[in-house]
Order: sequence, then C-alpha cells, then structure tokens
Amino acid sequence: MNKKPDLKVNIGGIELKNPVMTASGTFGYADEFRELIDLNRLGGIVVKGLSLKPSSGNPPRRIVETPCGMLNAIGLQNIGIDAFIKEKVPFLKTLSTPTLVNIYGANMDAYAELAARVDDVEEIAGIEVNISCPNVKAGGIAFGVDPESAGNVVKAVREKTGKPLMVKLSPNVTDVTEIAACVEDAGADSVSLINTITGMAIDIHTRRPKLANITGGLSGPAIKPVAVRMVWQVAQRVKIPVIGIGGIMTAEDALEFLIAGATAVQVGTANFVNPKATMEIIGGIEKFLIEEGIGNVQEIIGSFRV
Ligand SMILES: Cc1cc2nc3c(=O)[nH]c(=O)nc-3n(C[C@H](O)[C@H](O)[C@H](O)COP(=O)(O)O)c2cc1C
Repeated sequence: MNKKPDLKVNIGGIELKNPVMTASGTFGYADEFRELIDLNRLGGIVVKGLSLKPSSGNPPRRIVETPCGMLNAIGLQNIGIDAFIKEKVPFLKTLSTPTLVNIYGANMDAYAELAARVDDVEEIAGIEVNISCPNVKAGGIAFGVDPESAGNVVKAVREKTGKPLMVKLSPNVTDVTEIAACVEDAGADSVSLINTITGMAIDIHTRRPKLANITGGLSGPAIKPVAVRMVWQVAQRVKIPVIGIGGIMTAEDALEFLIAGATAVQVGTANFVNPKATMEIIGGIEKFLIEEGIGNVQEIIGSFRV
C-alpha cells in the first residue's frame, strides 16, 4: 500500500493535519523558525508561555546540560499577552497551522484575565493552560499539584472563553490521573503532559548550584519513559484527548506515545538539537504507517497491547 495515510486528528475541538505539535517554550512564537522549517506542515504550534505583563524570567545561569537532557529554569520569560497579540499574531494568522496560546498566571484572576484576552483573538485556535511550571515562585506549579486548585483554575478560565482548553499537567505529583480527572470535570477539552520534572545539578568545585534558581526542570530523552507511563495512565482515566510530551526526538518516540494513548504529541527539547526535528517526525510517522499498511493514524492511537 503506497497511498498516503490520513494523519488528521482532532484534539478537543481543534483539527490538526497531523499529530505533531511544538511544545511551549522551545519554539518561541514560531516566527523564529520560519526560515528553518515549513511551519504550515506542522500539526499545531504552541507558543512560549505568556503572562499578563512582560517578564524577564529568572537570573542566569538558566540552562544546564545533563546526560540525555537538560535542566532549565527560564522562569517564564515572555513578552506579555498584549505585545504577543499586537506583534506576533499578525504573522501567526498567515499560517494554515492552528496556534495555541500557552498561558501562565500568578493567581486565579490572572489566568481568567489572560483567557479573556485570548478569547478576543479570533485567529487563536485554543489555549494551553500551564498549571505546571516548576520554575516560578508564585502560582504555576502550586495549582498543578493539588487536584482541587487545578480544577478551580480550569473553571475560572472556562468561564472566560469558549475556545478549546488544553490543560498542561505536571509530573511532579503523586498521582497524575487524579489531577487529570479533576481538570476534565472542570471543563478541559484535552490534557497535555508532561511538563518538566524538577531536578538540580551541583558544581562540585564551588559546591554551588549550577542554576541560579537552584532547581530547574528536566527535559529531553531522559524523561521519556516517565512521560510514556503517565500518558498511558491518564489515557485510561479520562475521556478527553491526551497530548503526549517528553523527550520526543524521533518518529519512533512519537509513535510510542500515540500507541500509549496520546491523540497528538508535542516536541520540545528536540527543537534545540535539531530545528528540523518536527518535520522528520511527521515524515517518519507517515513512512511507518505506509510500511505497516495502516491507512489512518487513528488506528495506531491507543493500540497498545498488554
Ligand atoms: C527551555 C524550556 C522552556 C520551557 N518553557 C515552557 C513554558 O513557557 N510553558 C510550558 O508550559 N512549558 C514549558 N516548557 C516545557 C516543555 O513545553 C515540555 O513540556 C518539556 O520540555 C518536556 O518536553 P521535551 O522533553 O520534549 O522538551 C519549557 C521547556 C524548556 C526546555
């Protein structure tokens, strides 16, 4: 069979031409990649996390390489929602690829206000609510580790927007399925996981932390097995689509997540190593389906056999 397989998926009301999206914070606001890849080939774009006011993030050093991954403590440096709408949306709306805005608030009202602002922007396909950033002092992770708070943030955001809501979950919890179930009940249209795993690294000569923030978020291939496990568990617990994230470098990695039950995936750290990673992953998924004689990517989603 050589016919091109159908790669289309729907993630809680957003139609993607293929299941490969970019992960927030690793792809800027997309225009940075316009010379490097065909942005219209992507399934979806998630932009850098945005807050109400611009933020310069944490002091340096903010990135450390680790075996099979990296630690970051950027602390949500961003241009702020108003500048994003004014300066970045005009380019994004020229693309055929849907864009999701990743939002982060220091408190419940800030999340709600951000959702209201994004709701006014017709060209934005959906909102990814980040309740899982480990690198900021207030808010973020505080909401993502408690099922009730997580549900309350989602309710507050839901009241302000009719746009599809994807809620990004933290792996730094005892039972990720509990949080997933609560955000589903609160009105999330999909969940994405995982955000980074909290870690740290020490300079043995100075005996000081390598990151100015002391702790940071671990990403890259090192976290993939944890992410696949959590995606598999959450996919069994909720009815809404699950978006798999964590250490995806190749098509094989992406397929592992799809088989575990993810409807789509996001590619993060790989963009730093190989800016064309997403294009290769899309091509590789297509090739795999052709080789396996599978006409539609839906057939692979959740096809895990135990
Ligand atoms: C430098 C960097 C910045 C990030 N910034 C954000 C962010 O602003 N919002 C967010 O929800 N996740 C952010 N993340 C988390 C990623 O989107 C992703 O969940 C995580 O890195 C795991 O995927 P990966 O192993 O493919 O990188 C960031 C990750 C990195 C490495």
